[in-house]
Amino acid sequence: MVKVTIDNIDVEVEEGTTILNAARKIGGKIVPPAMCYYSKLAGSGGKCRTCLVKVTQGSDKDPRPMPKLVASCSTPVQNGMIVQNITSPEVLETRKAIVEFLLLNHPLDCPVCDQAGECDLQDLSYNHGSSLTRTEEPRRTFEMIDVGSKIKLHMNRCILCYRCVYTADQITDKRVHGVLERGDRCEIGTYIKNVIDNDFSGNIIDVCPVGALTDMTFRFKSRVWFTNPYDAHRACPKCSGKVVIWLSGNKILRVTGRKDEYGEVEEFICNECRFDKKEMSDWIVEKPRKIKRNSVISQNHYELINKYGSHG
Ligand code: SF4
Ligand code: SF4
Ligand code: FES
Repeated sequence: MVKVTIDNIDVEVEEGTTILNAARKIGGKIVPPAMCYYSKLAGSGGKCRTCLVKVTQGSDKDPRPMPKLVASCSTPVQNGMIVQNITSPEVLETRKAIVEFLLLNHPLDCPVCDQAGECDLQDLSYNHGSSLTRTEEPRRTFEMIDVGSKIKLHMNRCILCYRCVYTADQITDKRVHGVLERGDRCEIGTYIKNVIDNDFSGNIIDVCPVGALTDMTFRFKSRVWFTNPYDAHRACPKCSGKVVIWLSGNKILRVTGRKDEYGEVEEFICNECRFDKKEMSDWIVEKPRKIKRNSVISQNHYELINKYGSHG
């Protein structure tokens, strides 16, 4: 085990743990935001720079500070390392600049975007961004494309985190999409008009931190904050069958994986559960789902249920 101090809090973690995961072990406000790292996807991280932190002491053996801010998702801790996140004005200022950079080409689509209310980029902008923009240049734009029969790609909203690429690589049989081109021409695309079509492809919707990949069976059906999420399960031969069903009255509007406090799915689910099981009789409903992230959907949702014993 090695000892590391993050924002003046000591924690002991296994050797090889990253600074981000050490911070997650402490929990709370000192955990850096992560738009591209995803603990269930090997090799993810190192793309978005939102998780940058300052290392003021490298280790017990070599106490020199690291010369630049480092990506906490891909930097392993050393024994005696001292890290600053929210206690460093330099980190907070840099993060503000990174949010500005991520928004440089991002459309103001929130009023019509399915991800609104549960969007990591909205949270990031609110928590770490500036309320003003300094850019007036036109954003780069792309045509929307259907990737398969159930998934819509709005490249305009993509932040090129690569999570969907890792997901397709690691949990499906055959990846047919990836990042095409380089630099400011980079885009997520399918090669020679291939479509993403396999039993687990829908998970790319869940891992996408923004509204770039959306569920065509749910598009424009409801704002997420008007729906009630419940944990539910079914005996599924392909996946664990453990999902969240999002209800309007008794109608299932969409089915997603169950996400933790960092917005990461606990278990990937199959397309049959996600897209084809929209009847209440398909599911055994367990309990209301408490959404732990800080988007609109998590606000005051269940206090009324607890207080009055029914939906507020
Ligand atoms: S992806 Fe998020 S920030 Fe972008 S338009 Fe959609 S809700 Fe707004
Ligand atoms: S489509 Fe979504 S998951 Fe894929 S790279 Fe873009 S933002 Fe990331
Ligand atoms: S979460 Fe570390 S670089 Fe994106």
